[in-house]
Amino acid sequence: MNEQTDIRSLFEPRGVAVIGASSNPAKIGYKIVENMIASGYQGEIYPINPKGGEILGRPVLKSVVDAAGPVDMAVITIPAQFVYGAAEECAQAGVKNLVVITSGFSEVGDAEEEKRLVEFSRQHGMRVLGPNIFGIYSAAAAMDATFGPGGILPGHVAIVTQSGALGIAMIGKTAAESLGLSALVSIGNKSDLDEADVLGYLAEDDATKVILLYIEGVKNGDRLAAMLKQITKRKHVVVIKSGRSKRGAMAAASHTGSLAGADDIFDSVMRQCGVLRATSVQEAFNWARFLADAPLPPGPNAVIITNGGGIGVLATDACELYNVNLYDDQPKLRETFKGVMPDFGSSKNPVDLTEQAAVDDYAQALDAVRTSPEMHACLALYCETALFDTEQFASLLRRQYARFRGKKPIVFSLFGGEKIEATTQTLRKEGIPVFADVYEAVSSLGALYQSWRNLGREEDVLDEPTFDVEAIRAVLQSARADGRSFLLADEASNVAELLGISMPRSTVARNLEEAVSAAEDIGYPVVMKVVSKDIIHKSDAGGVALDLENREEVIDAFQAIMRSCRAYKADAAIEGVEVAEMVKAGVETILGARQDASFGPTVMFGLGGIYVEVMKDVAFRAAPVSNKEALNMISEIRSYPLLLGVRGEKRKDIESVVQVATTLGHLVNVCREISDIEVNPLVVYDHGNGAKALDVRILLGEDKGVNPS
Ligand code: ACO
Repeated sequence: MNEQTDIRSLFEPRGVAVIGASSNPAKIGYKIVENMIASGYQGEIYPINPKGGEILGRPVLKSVVDAAGPVDMAVITIPAQFVYGAAEECAQAGVKNLVVITSGFSEVGDAEEEKRLVEFSRQHGMRVLGPNIFGIYSAAAAMDATFGPGGILPGHVAIVTQSGALGIAMIGKTAAESLGLSALVSIGNKSDLDEADVLGYLAEDDATKVILLYIEGVKNGDRLAAMLKQITKRKHVVVIKSGRSKRGAMAAASHTGSLAGADDIFDSVMRQCGVLRATSVQEAFNWARFLADAPLPPGPNAVIITNGGGIGVLATDACELYNVNLYDDQPKLRETFKGVMPDFGSSKNPVDLTEQAAVDDYAQALDAVRTSPEMHACLALYCETALFDTEQFASLLRRQYARFRGKKPIVFSLFGGEKIEATTQTLRKEGIPVFADVYEAVSSLGALYQSWRNLGREEDVLDEPTFDVEAIRAVLQSARADGRSFLLADEASNVAELLGISMPRSTVARNLEEAVSAAEDIGYPVVMKVVSKDIIHKSDAGGVALDLENREEVIDAFQAIMRSCRAYKADAAIEGVEVAEMVKAGVETILGARQDASFGPTVMFGLGGIYVEVMKDVAFRAAPVSNKEALNMISEIRSYPLLLGVRGEKRKDIESVVQVATTLGHLVNVCREISDIEVNPLVVYDHGNGAKALDVRILLGEDKGVNPS
């Protein structure tokens, strides 16, 4: 259903029918016709209603098939039981897109009718937006086909929302704050067209500079992620997501699953895709507004200009939180700002002009930031003082903003009484990024910097998997043939070997001679464990010997194991002993990969050992991952310094971890029938000495065969 198609005709239709157009102003079918006309849509509008007549001066047709010109889009505003019939007429009329406002489909449990509608539409070359939506606005066609309050200004922000109510509220909010939109799309039930389809159009739309996505649930996450990765190389994308459900994770059968709260994966994947995730609607709105107008900074160094020490420190804290780099060249700062700073002012960054600062001092300081090649962005803060004329200051901000515009980003934060609040509102309405709260100002600049780093990122190079997929499939199939949805330890070891994941070498010896030769073959030191189905607690029975360094110790240990086990259980059937490589201590990590319900194949990395579940120090990525992305994931966990080596320890073999992570990512991408694979622990040694997987577990899910993409 979701193959890439050109949905340009949805955003730039030549003619639009409104099926269910009504002359009753209280009805949605009236409001849509009204908004279409008011927004200045230049194509033909065809109100459709069997009653005929006229609506807002437009003749009403009895059926869409009567339209004289092409109808690229039909907005449907009639009750659910009549929608299918309307779709049949649309097919007859050669309509390309159905915008189904009507509620009462899968969101209330009637998935069948929704499916029937989409199947019919697709068979007849029509795409479906909705159902259960408030409509679509497209600046490219000056078309407001929503039943919102109207008054949408054209601009550079595109909003794609799953929530109807929030989307409609956004219309009012954008109008109140003079934020211009390039598009506003309500996707509702996503029965056919989803976020990724809409993004496909917006990616190519020159007017769209920022995309704001409001997501409640992700259906085809891998497709969405692929699209987002491409778009964020060119445009800013901001996302807000609600519904942080952990249900999916609760049901999962492995560590990898249970450690992966649904939201953790979403969060990681969005970061991986270069998307900015906002925590609130207000934050998303602030970011979108700022990003739509701000130029990209020419470099990483930001400077804070303030007249209050306290607010400057707050801004410094916020800069750390939002990853904004403060310019720190003291001599240069002193030289640049010496003319505007009293002797007792600070020549550090924040540049503190002190309470005595006059409007002119601000002007000089901001000019200095603007013209300095070393300073790339500015945060101008102001605490109300008796010395300042607010009107004059507002004029200064306007002038300075105009000078910075298109060259360097600048944000303002003003704090004070009624006059300041009123000024803040006025300036915001004019599109100047002024915030009452310092954190809001810095968070917006931080979003720009994060996006700036994403935009400049290098193309991710994905190596081809090198393992023998067919040999692995044969192991999986034999487990399935045995009626199992999990692999036995030796089968999992076999898969690990095929993947090139190093596990401790081991072999079963049936007598002393075999034990000695196995030990010589593996190399000392070795461990030995009794192999007997009758002895479950091997240590209790004296059936385990560790750290055997030579032939003599192996002989002694073998005899001791046999003696103790016979004494422990005289009638035990003893098959022999398992001789295995003695694993040295290292940093214990956990690596997993699984099929996530929303994003498909994903990989996970964390610090292993007994604390993994308590610490939950884990990171995720959508798979497959490149070496670079695997390293990003690994370095994201809090305990990463352990791998870099603490207190004089050597750096660990991070390259081996990267290799296992990329391999697992490839595996779950290629073999979608593997629902979970987990390497726990993967013991990582010093750089150059590799890593060893002590345990590998594999679970099988639904047999989906080869990677469909
Ligand atoms: N072709 C053309 N016109 C028709 C047809 C047809 N086949 N059948 C009926 N009509 C006419 C009706 O006669 C009526 O016109 P009239 O006012 O001249 O009598 C008009 O179409 C509308 O039909 P009604 O039966 O009056 O339906 P009503 O307007 O009350 O409701 C609606 C239709 C709005 C689609 C409703 O069923 C619905 O789904 N409402 C919810 C919409 C919604 O909330 N969507 C999600 C938005 S997102 C959010 O959460 C905000």
